[in-house]
Amino acid sequence: MRIGVIGAGRMGGLHARALRLLPDVSEVLIADIDPARARETALHEGCTAVADVDALWGKRPRGVVIAASTKMHATLIRRAVRERAGILCEKPLTTTMDESIEIADLVRDAGVPLMVGFQRRFDRAFQDLRAEMNRRAGAGFVLRIRHADTAPPPAGYLATAPGSMFVDMCIHDYDTIRWLSGSEVAAVSSAGAVLTGLPDFGLHDDVDTVVSTIHLENGSVGVLEAFRHSRDGYVVSGEMIGADADAATPAGKRCDSWYERFCEAFQEEARTFVSSLAGGHHGEAAGALDATRALQVALAAETAFRERRTVALEPVRA
Ligand SMILES: NC(=O)c1ccc[n+]([C@@H]2O[C@H](COP(=O)([O-])OP(=O)(O)OC[C@H]3O[C@@H](n4cnc5c(N)ncnc54)[C@H](O)[C@@H]3O)[C@@H](O)[C@H]2O)c1
Repeated sequence: MRIGVIGAGRMGGLHARALRLLPDVSEVLIADIDPARARETALHEGCTAVADVDALWGKRPRGVVIAASTKMHATLIRRAVRERAGILCEKPLTTTMDESIEIADLVRDAGVPLMVGFQRRFDRAFQDLRAEMNRRAGAGFVLRIRHADTAPPPAGYLATAPGSMFVDMCIHDYDTIRWLSGSEVAAVSSAGAVLTGLPDFGLHDDVDTVVSTIHLENGSVGVLEAFRHSRDGYVVSGEMIGADADAATPAGKRCDSWYERFCEAFQEEARTFVSSLAGGHHGEAAGALDATRALQVALAAETAFRERRTVALEPVRA
């Protein structure tokens, strides 16, 4: 099976590497608006560079991984739908609710499969935590998620960042809370702060630290603590604390880098994508509607922070 990767940056290279290891994948093609970058990544990851995105479509890939900059995702998804290629798109699909709903409707009506790159859903530790939460379904709990990156984004990133920390980074965690709890979000409140001492965040009206309290429809509570910059290692972990539990049930360990933390999850995500293209099941993958609901929580969490109030969410209909 021939698969295309669009965007030859950090994530494009990682996806190309994961795809190349799969026996059902005969060829991985990679395209970028910067052809030199596509060639360099192809050389590094052992795949094939094509001149541009049109050339990639000319090769008629069965599926594409969209790992270009966030602002291009929606345009590239529309093209993939026209080409009737299955899609694995990096998060977030887009940064506005109108466009996210439009995309969810588009892929549903076209019958084109779309997976979203929320790789925590393929992480063994989180899957074990989810199974434990399912076993205790009906009992109330606090679900605490911690997300600490080791390094702040590179200088210049925030000037063109596709949305604030709430949308660009914490969207992973809002999806994780929905997925682990099996519940939609009823309301959210948030605090945000600049604690790194780096001037960039304040200059760009963004924060480097987020704490959100998520009121779930099933009555339980999610708590997110997220940090753009931690000197203490890379951490993405979860913990369920139930009123009837003797001890918390933890998931996720401290690592040196995000790649170390999630490399197995990325491989499993790629395997699921390829198997779904061959008619298999999407498994734990998030679809466009999940991405839309996670975006809604992220935007509401940001409003809650900026307006210092609890924001209630309207249901997003399928
Ligand atoms: N799942 C995760 O944990 C995770 C982590 C980091 C980034 N991301 C997401 O992955 C995406 C890419 O992030 P990155 O860190 O790899 O960025 P990056 O800047 O390293 O790479 C993006 C690449 O896309 C290319 N590009 C831009 N527009 C294009 C277009 N129209 N056609 C083809 N190529 C185009 C750029 O030239 C660049 O090479 C973003 O949406 C980001 O939010 C996800």
